[in-house]
Amino acid sequence: MSRRVAGREPVVSDSVMTDHGERYAEIQRLAELLRAGGLVAFPTETVYGLGANALDADAVARVFAAKGRPATVPLIVHLAAVEQLPIVTSRQSELALRLAQAFWPGPLTLVLPRASAVPDAVTAGLDTVGVRVPAHPLARALIAAAGVPLAAPSANPFTRISPTTAAHVRRQLGDRVDAVLDGGPTEVGIESTVVDASGERAVLLRPGGVSVAELEAVVGPVQRPTRDGDAALDAPQASPGMSERHYSPRARLIEVERDSRGQLVLSPAPGEASAWGLVRMVGGDATPFTGAAVDQRMPQDVTGYARRLFAALHELDEAGCEVAYVERLPAGPEWEAVADRLRRAGLRAADRG
Ligand code: TXA
Ligand code: MG
Repeated sequence: MSRRVAGREPVVSDSVMTDHGERYAEIQRLAELLRAGGLVAFPTETVYGLGANALDADAVARVFAAKGRPATVPLIVHLAAVEQLPIVTSRQSELALRLAQAFWPGPLTLVLPRASAVPDAVTAGLDTVGVRVPAHPLARALIAAAGVPLAAPSANPFTRISPTTAAHVRRQLGDRVDAVLDGGPTEVGIESTVVDASGERAVLLRPGGVSVAELEAVVGPVQRPTRDGDAALDAPQASPGMSERHYSPRARLIEVERDSRGQLVLSPAPGEASAWGLVRMVGGDATPFTGAAVDQRMPQDVTGYARRLFAALHELDEAGCEVAYVERLPAGPEWEAVADRLRRAGLRAADRG
């Protein structure tokens, strides 16, 4: 048996379900909850999403309420397979199909002209919609079982740290979510790359799990939008969701470097009264710093670093850190998405002047 969506041809074979036979009953129960208008957090390969039936405006309104998210920031719609694109988009350019073929299922969101079935609330009133087919097998099984596309932002309160484990979701959203599908820690660790593919050329709206180099290998030069800078969080924006404040731990993040002997210089020095933390690279200076409540040793490769990043920031919060020193990242374009998340988490170079 295959699943039918909105009367269209079957789009997902049963292999998606049978691979998860031991979770079949759980997935069916959560799919039923989604069809009834509930909110279900689920794992994707990037971060956990807060899912609702994307075609149900009331369910979508509950997503915004649970996150405390302003109505001006649109949601990403998750599909079980590329064949579902016509349910939520009105036109699929050759550019979009090439990107979809190269990177789906995977951490790429395409912004395309929306179909009329998509409620205004999902797109923040825009005439485009963000869509992706996630690679996580539990996500695909859940979407297929629900039989409807799932609108799902990252499952965190607005402006706070994205969740990479089910425990992060429960700690931050608690009973504002009806259920959490636990798939363990996520693989990629940072959100999908968002590309506007509604025009002639691909435009990068958010760096993420697919690098610009990977995109350009498939479609040639990728354009950059003109940035809004520190646009007000609640004002309509040219590139919605590009607001500066995001992913924030409670700690103030200060970028630090090593001195000529390779030792980290904590400047300004941590105040004695407050809990503070350290996020440094493995392989370098391993000197223990007395008094650090958190001492994260981050992988030196970008894939490993991205996978650990949000968990490291969550640990700062859990330990009550007010200040955290973050070792400067290596140079190189492959670090763009990680550097973007740290900057929006509030990372600033120490004022040495
Ligand atoms: O990896 C991810 O993308 C995760 C997982 C759950 O899929 N989702 C996620 O969703 O990060 P969210 O809501 O936290 O971020 C979605 C971003 C928006 O902030 C916005 O920048 C962009 O996607 N977006 C969505 N629809 C758009 C549209 N129609 N036009 C422009 N940007 C859009
Ligand atoms: Mg988010």
